[in-house]
Amino acid sequence: MSQDGCLGPDAGEPRPVLIDAEVLSNEAISHALYETVFRAPELALKARPAQFIGVKVSTGRDPFLRRPFSIARVDRNRGTVGILWARVGYGTELMSRWRPGETVNLLGPLGNGFRPRRFKHLILVAGGTGIAPMPFVCAESLKENPAASVTLLYGAKDKNSMYPVHRLMQETPWLAVQVSTEDGSYGKKGLVTGLLEDCLTRVLSQNREGDCDASSTFVSARKNPGDAGDTRNEASGPGILVFACGPKGMLSAVKAITTSAKIPLYVSLEERMACGLGLCRGCAVRRARGFKLEDPLDPVGQLGTGGSYPGWSSSRVGDSYFHVCLDGPVFSAEDVDLEG
Ligand SMILES: Cc1cc2nc3c(=O)[nH]c(=O)nc-3n(C[C@H](O)[C@H](O)[C@H](O)COP(=O)(O)OP(=O)(O)OC[C@H]3O[C@@H](n4cnc5c(N)ncnc54)[C@H](O)[C@@H]3O)c2cc1C
Ligand code: FES
Repeated sequence: MSQDGCLGPDAGEPRPVLIDAEVLSNEAISHALYETVFRAPELALKARPAQFIGVKVSTGRDPFLRRPFSIARVDRNRGTVGILWARVGYGTELMSRWRPGETVNLLGPLGNGFRPRRFKHLILVAGGTGIAPMPFVCAESLKENPAASVTLLYGAKDKNSMYPVHRLMQETPWLAVQVSTEDGSYGKKGLVTGLLEDCLTRVLSQNREGDCDASSTFVSARKNPGDAGDTRNEASGPGILVFACGPKGMLSAVKAITTSAKIPLYVSLEERMACGLGLCRGCAVRRARGFKLEDPLDPVGQLGTGGSYPGWSSSRVGDSYFHVCLDGPVFSAEDVDLEG
């Protein structure tokens, strides 16, 4: 159960909107990833990190269902919203043909999002397209806790399929970044879970700086806006927090590592979605055995507010499942079964 106030929209947070957004740009940024930027001022104002949007990929009825994508970037001044995505099937093939000036229908922001408030060290773990929510999470993560440190650990298959991390490092120069690739073509050879183990070993043994020294692995754009410099280690709070997004197998391995280190983990899940609105029950994910809803305002779950999965959650005490589109996509890892 979330004890850090990390999950869910704040009370009175705005509901999703249905808008026609202009495509400002749509480009391949690596062999495996595209980035699309929309003009969508209303969405930009409402969006929170790790929320997602339902994208109507064509103007016709085919395909009928919207495709869900994490909100990767938001520029509230310019009124733009960006997504990062991989071409994997029919819908994303159509998306790759979008041209600037076209109009695309978007529904969002959807889901609870991630808003860490009290931490000293935030470690972000991204695998493959799990990098998508991270630029927005990075940009916003220090807003409420400017004295903390943030490290991004990113694992990709190979150099060609990677998100160009130098972009992130230019935008957020205080961010420490480490990369691994499965074939060793960039950063450290191996899986991102290896980076996490190294990082936690260092952080826990030094218990000083949350930004892992990346000298043995790769890049570390350091540090920092200058003003936040030495005060980072004085941040008050429960300590280290991990947020992970990627394939379920990776999330499960990350959970094993953080559980054994007794460190709170939040995971952003991707299940196949039809409606994105809690109607079809298509995006069910099994709750962890022994999970209990705990909501001080609703101790027996009558209101269905779902404790840490609040607001418009459909969860009830007797249910064995969450629904990723409503209760998530972000969950405290101890609440969900990642093995199924
Ligand atoms: C909350 C959420 C956020 C997501 N954010 C991103 C993102 O930021 N960037 C990104 O590239 N992808 C993201 N995804 C996955 C993305 O929605 C799918 O890749 C996309 O819908 C595929 O559409 P398609 O028509 O091209 O694929 P289809 O032709 O429908 O299927 C092609 C392949 O993709 C797989 N697939 C389809 N939908 C999903 C899904 N929801 N999750 C996992 N695999 C799927 C299928 O199993 C199949 O193997 C997200 C999914 C969810 C649920
Ligand atoms: S996608 Fe329909 S309930 Fe979640």
